Order: sequence, then C-alpha cells, then structure tokens
Amino acid sequence: VSDIRTIEWKTDHLRILDQTLLPITEHYRELRTVDDVIQAIQSLAVRGAPALGAVGAYGILIAMNEFQELDDRLNAIDSIRNSRPTAVNLSWAVTRVSSYLNEGKERVLEEARLIEKEDRDANLAIAAHGVRWLEENLGLDGYRILTHCNTGTLATTYWGTALGVIRALHDEGKVIEVLADETRPLLQGSRLTAWELQKLGIPHRIQVDSAAASAIVSGMVDFAIIGADRIANNGDTANKIGSLAVALACKRASVPFLVAAPTSTLDMSILSGADIEIEERSSSEVTKLGTTEIAPRGAKVFNPAFDVTPRDLISGIITEVGVFNPMNGQTFRDFIEK
Ligand code: MRU
Repeated sequence: VSDIRTIEWKTDHLRILDQTLLPITEHYRELRTVDDVIQAIQSLAVRGAPALGAVGAYGILIAMNEFQELDDRLNAIDSIRNSRPTAVNLSWAVTRVSSYLNEGKERVLEEARLIEKEDRDANLAIAAHGVRWLEENLGLDGYRILTHCNTGTLATTYWGTALGVIRALHDEGKVIEVLADETRPLLQGSRLTAWELQKLGIPHRIQVDSAAASAIVSGMVDFAIIGADRIANNGDTANKIGSLAVALACKRASVPFLVAAPTSTLDMSILSGADIEIEERSSSEVTKLGTTEIAPRGAKVFNPAFDVTPRDLISGIITEVGVFNPMNGQTFRDFIEK
C-alpha cells in the first residue's frame, strides 16, 4: 500500500485514486478545475478527514490557476471549504493555505506541501504512540481488533491513523485478526479497508455493522480503534455513522475504545460534540446498492454520515503529540499545555 498515492500534486493538477471505483478498479483521476475538486470531494472519490485536508490545500492552487480576480478566487475557495462540513481538516487546511494567497503560487504550493508532509509525519507518530499505549495498557502478545470505516492510506497521505496503528502492530507480528465493519451505506470498510488490509497481508474478516456489538460483547475483540472527522476540545468525537454503537458495546464489555487522529482533526473552537455539524447525505445512498433499488420507491430516509461519541466512552485519543485521555475530564487544551 505504501506505493499507493491517494493524492499527488502534478505541476498544474491533482491526481487522485478514485475511491468510488475501488476495490474493482484502480483508476487515477485528474482534478484540474474547482468543480472537479468539489465533485471529487462530494462523491467521495477522495475522502477521509486528513486526505480531504490535503486536497483542500492543493485545491487553492487549482482555484488560483483557474481564476485571476481575487473575488472569484475567494468564492471558489469558499465552495471548496464548505463542500463537506463535518471533517474539520478540510476547512482547517483551506483556511491555513489561503492565508498565503497574496504571496503567490510558489508560497501557496509550499504550504500545501507542508500540510501533506506534516500528515505523513503525523501518521507515523500516531502509529508509534498507539503501539506504546497498547503495550502499556494491555500488553498482549497478539491482538484481536475491531475497526470501523476506512482510516488507512486512502484516508490520509501515508499510513493512515487507526489503520496505521494496526499496521505498526502487524509489523511487530502482533495482529491476530482485524474485524472490519463493512460501514453502511457506502461500504468504506468492505470496499476500502479490506482492500488495504489484503494488500498489507494483515489477517482480517469483514462483518456487517450490526455484528459489531455481539462480537465485542461476546469477547472476540481486545480493543476497537477508529479515526475521527472532528474532535471537540472536551474529546467528544465525530466519526463515521456507527462509531457510537461500537463505543457503547466496548463500554459494556470493558474493552478499550480508541480514537486515532492528527491534531489537525481537533477543533478547539468547539467545546463539546453538541456543536459539531453532522453532514446528512442523499437518500439514494440508502435506497440503492449501486444502481439496484433496495427500498420502496419514495421511501423517506434518515442518512447522517457521522455520529458523535461522547468523551466518557473514549479510552484514549492517539495523536502525533501523544495520547490524551478525555474520560477523566482532561481537555485537549489541558493536554497540549501540560
Ligand atoms: O465519509 P468518509 O468516508 O469521508 O468518512 C471517513 C471517516 O469517518 C474516517 O474515519 C475519518 O475521516 C478519519 S480518516 C483517517
């Protein structure tokens, strides 16, 4: 998987691996206009909070190439920023890079590259902190792990977050099995996580999301680990819909429930999860499987893309600067100022 580039800046355009076609087809798509970027983000051709941050960062260059007037550029940049609301990395990266708009394309490119590099470094640091936390807190020779959605190379710029921890554990020969939730409705678990785990040679089975609770409560899982789209200052964590159910089952079974995310996913301006905007997506994601209709025509649908896991269900938030423990009331601000 290391040689797979989820996103890559190429002189005047962004090349992305089209995740809507995986696992059947490995096709790279070129994004040359702001509309291309927004379409790729909204269709989930590129997805995962840190990857969205990097795409947003390079998207500023695409806007600068396409539009010469400042107002047009600013409008285009705003549309990129708002194209997916929950993953804070997108608005964080767009805001950070666009602050160099007046300094020219070279400077903007430098900042976008820096965001990508920081994410790569963060991936490796998160993996190392995660392995250490597990050694100190569980200390097993081998682990049975449950994960939800996709948090690997495809969702980031390198190893991934939660999947990066799993990969580092596997490198030490300590993964017995990963149970990968299929992650309805768009199946990021079965289409993307299983694809990555297979390429890495990590033992795994796919399960339907509704199998997660019984797997955890019946003792089949040593810990669960997920990524995050936005983490409030108190540790409440928004991630793919279904994450909360995993956390509740872990609490019942006294199994650690871990979140792995770079600090770029922490939104200190938000005190608690109540203030996190949850993206609702099209009903057709639920009523159709591909092009096949699987619900009565006209059925009404509730399709939130994310849920919020309250901090008291989270055993640790693994970041590139260490593991913070929201369960005991520590805030992220306390943690970094410590
Ligand atoms: O809708 P998606 O596929 O973009 O949702 C992705 C997730 O929920 C991931 O867990 C999250 O972005 C973290 S990725 C390292």
